[in-house]
Amino acid sequence: MDKHGGLPPGVLEPRQAVLRMAPYSPPTGGRADKLRLDFNENTVGASPRVIEFLKANLTEAQLTVYPEYTEAKRDLAAHFKVDAEDFILTNGTDEAIQVLINTYVDDNDEVITLAPSYAMYRFYAEVAGARVREIPYRPGTLAFPFDELMAAITPETRAVLIANPNNPTGSGTSRVNLEQILEKASDAAVLVDEAYYEFCGVTLLPLLNDYPNLFVSRTFSKVYGMAAMRVGCLFSQSGNVEFLHKAQSPYSVNMVGALAARAAVQDGEYIYKYVTEVLAARELLYVGLEELNIDYYPSQANFVLFQAGERAIPIRDELRRRGVLVRDRSYEIAGCVRVTVGTREQVRRFLAELKEIW
Ligand SMILES: Cc1ncc(COP(=O)(O)O)c(C=O)c1O
Repeated sequence: MDKHGGLPPGVLEPRQAVLRMAPYSPPTGGRADKLRLDFNENTVGASPRVIEFLKANLTEAQLTVYPEYTEAKRDLAAHFKVDAEDFILTNGTDEAIQVLINTYVDDNDEVITLAPSYAMYRFYAEVAGARVREIPYRPGTLAFPFDELMAAITPETRAVLIANPNNPTGSGTSRVNLEQILEKASDAAVLVDEAYYEFCGVTLLPLLNDYPNLFVSRTFSKVYGMAAMRVGCLFSQSGNVEFLHKAQSPYSVNMVGALAARAAVQDGEYIYKYVTEVLAARELLYVGLEELNIDYYPSQANFVLFQAGERAIPIRDELRRRGVLVRDRSYEIAGCVRVTVGTREQVRRFLAELKEIW
């Protein structure tokens, strides 16, 4: 062993917090030509108005200028019915989580997350050197563990990170429950990540002025079909937003993303139609799984976890061979595979392939 405790020669020793982390490497290639039911993206595409707007508004000269956000903030504020001072634009939800943690969490501070949930909560908390306390979703039902979470919150808690509805369980919780959590965790930053809001309709955005510890994130990666753009928003009271600004790099959202977001919120009808299609497709998926006698967890989002038992990984691999991508989750919920719900036609294709290999 060398003096750096086992690091290969020539490798500079990183911080202990980074050394302790488990590597996280989601697939980043080879997905474009397949039926992508693995990342909960919009499976059809962004509104055509987004591309039209980009074509009409992008100029060579603009590319030379560092991004300016005044117009994007004005249009998004109007869309979300908040003031421009009540949010920051972020490079996806991921940067929202990172900025929130950088603003409020020090080394060894306690951060509470639920498990299983979106991997980036633990990721950024660990990078920051926080102590992560995970509260499990209820075994068997995967229901939101409200009482357990309330019991875990103490004056020591610096942040509570909740996805509502949650990925990968699909479970959500009520506004009333979230308000009780905000009251109990009054000294902590409470993030309610509403990445899948459009599929369930529960939001805390209207409560921003009631809770100084409330932070809400939204993303353009899911229903808006713009995951490649990396745009999101982090909302809070304006006094908090000033500190979020201080802890954020000034140009982390690129100009094309900011333009695209402006166009995306103009086409509410497109979003409404897509959500309606997904909700119909989710019912079709439930029926198809029931016909195959496959257990699943009813979901409030655009994805469903189903029980593949011992065959979770072989089923994922065989579906991939047939051009259909789904996500193995058996490493965190025994036997489970997660499938994104797209259109009814896509669900039919998925069910047909599954039926052949089941
Ligand atoms: C709960 C949740 N939040 C956020 C994200 C990612 O958001 P973004 O692409 O905005 O970083 C995901 C993606 O899977 C998610 O499941």
